[in-house]
Amino acid sequence: MAIEPRLFRSAEWFGQNDKESFIHRGWMRNQGLPTHVFDGRPVIGICNTWSELTPCNAHLRTLADHVKRGVWEAGGLPVEFPVMSTGESTLRPTAMLFRNLVSMDVEESIRANPIDGVILLCGCDKTTVSLVMGAASCNLPTIVVSGGPMLNGKYKSKDIGSGTDVWRLSEELKAGTLTQPEFNEAEACMSRSAGSCMTMGTASTMASMVEALGIALPQNAAIPAVDARRAVLAHMAGRRIVEMVREDLTLSKVLTIEAFENAIRVNGAIGGSTNAVIHLIAIAGRIEVPLTLSDWDRLGNDIPTIVDLMPSGRFLMEDFYYAGGLPAVMRILDSRGLLHSTALTVTGASIGESVKDAPVWNQEVIRPFETPLIEHGGIAVLRGNLAPDGAVLKPSAASPSLMQHRGRAVVFRDIEDYRRRINDPDLDVDENSVLVLQNCGPKGYPGMPEVGNMGLPRKLLERGVRDMVRVSDARMSGTAYGTVVLHVCPEAAAGGPLALVREGDFIDLNVPARRLHLDVSDEELSSRKAQWRPPEPVASSGYQFMYVQHVMQASEGADLDFLIGCRGTKVTREAH
Ligand code: FES
Repeated sequence: MAIEPRLFRSAEWFGQNDKESFIHRGWMRNQGLPTHVFDGRPVIGICNTWSELTPCNAHLRTLADHVKRGVWEAGGLPVEFPVMSTGESTLRPTAMLFRNLVSMDVEESIRANPIDGVILLCGCDKTTVSLVMGAASCNLPTIVVSGGPMLNGKYKSKDIGSGTDVWRLSEELKAGTLTQPEFNEAEACMSRSAGSCMTMGTASTMASMVEALGIALPQNAAIPAVDARRAVLAHMAGRRIVEMVREDLTLSKVLTIEAFENAIRVNGAIGGSTNAVIHLIAIAGRIEVPLTLSDWDRLGNDIPTIVDLMPSGRFLMEDFYYAGGLPAVMRILDSRGLLHSTALTVTGASIGESVKDAPVWNQEVIRPFETPLIEHGGIAVLRGNLAPDGAVLKPSAASPSLMQHRGRAVVFRDIEDYRRRINDPDLDVDENSVLVLQNCGPKGYPGMPEVGNMGLPRKLLERGVRDMVRVSDARMSGTAYGTVVLHVCPEAAAGGPLALVREGDFIDLNVPARRLHLDVSDEELSSRKAQWRPPEPVASSGYQFMYVQHVMQASEGADLDFLIGCRGTKVTREAH
């Protein structure tokens, strides 16, 4: 149903002829805005995470200009505004610590301003999630425009992928099979254009997730950042958001449980990041959709990974776009009845209609459903006395030989302890050991850094060992790989059983049975728990202090408890 222009939200600021509107319109005019743009047209906020400290998003000012063209063309008034930008490669201690903080910035910026619809400009991992979380708590018409991936890295005439090849090359350097000058040369060859990581890491996963959720235009995930078609997509999003305001197509009409279930299945098909588990649960919490950790296993377990991209496979995002991109993947899933076809998207069409003719141009990159890269993709949710509230593992990035494994724990009480001892020649460890890292969860670090894929001990690397079972309450970069059990809940710093593991305990990992078991009696665990003391707090004031008081566990999305829910756009008090 179309809305009358005078009923747009922005009219509360710009639509009167009194002192308040004099102030609201008058100060905006210093930007050269003429009288007629205050005629009741939709005002479109362009929420921008541009920053030179977020290299993956450094081109977003230019992309915003293309959005503006589309907004003007459709008869809207574009207004670009900045929010805090979280650059994964630079922010310390970890960008995840600030995801929820940025979501508050976004939510309050939208609500407090005369905005009728929003374009979210994002790219690097958390920038996408924070912006969608904040926008979901407001529930205006919203479209996500991702910045797009970098072009393929090129080194010695071969493709190299963001992150994935950093982990591989640094292990080679440690093992002595790569020289320091070669390592430095690879650094200069990896990030050679604007854009985000071009592997199927967290940025590409989340760009795919927003497309699968229906809150981005088709092909949002994969068009390279520097391809002119990315600018066209931004332009078309600008046009479309103006129509969405007129149609009153708000975010909650698109972000339904069916949309989230589609996204989980797509994540399995693309071999997406484990981080998507936490992030989608957090977004669902903001829009009040009941999504749980168990849904990931229920829906993703039977999904084959058909996209052959690093870190699970061989290719990169540029290849993915040329092969057909996400619409082709969704068409394949839909043709097998694995999607809710009728789920609405921001285009106004259903997801089924949007992808029904999407072609595959390269079956090496997007493989047939019958001959997938990995038969059971998705995310395995593990439970047991070591993770009563769950833990996750990405089978497509793990070694098949380690999917059922029993090994002796080598325990690191925190990341500093790990860094101090991992390369000690006297460390009592072999390839059958299970590396255990404690106190790196949401409260413990704090902020749950991407350290779960702990590098292996140098002495084992030198002997050719390339994978071991690792268990922690941390996260793992979406570009990383290995047989890595992550997000163990409850975390060690909250007194979870992970805190009670001691050197030499045996741990059983059984991925097919979804089991993670610490082979220690209940009596012994109770006695250890009685002696357990929480780690010293890292901060006694400021944001980090508040974060630790309020952050929820990974299985619940690691949002701050007081941010859950959709608070809408009503301003609590009018100005006078
Ligand atoms: Fe920004 Fe990977 S570091 S997307």
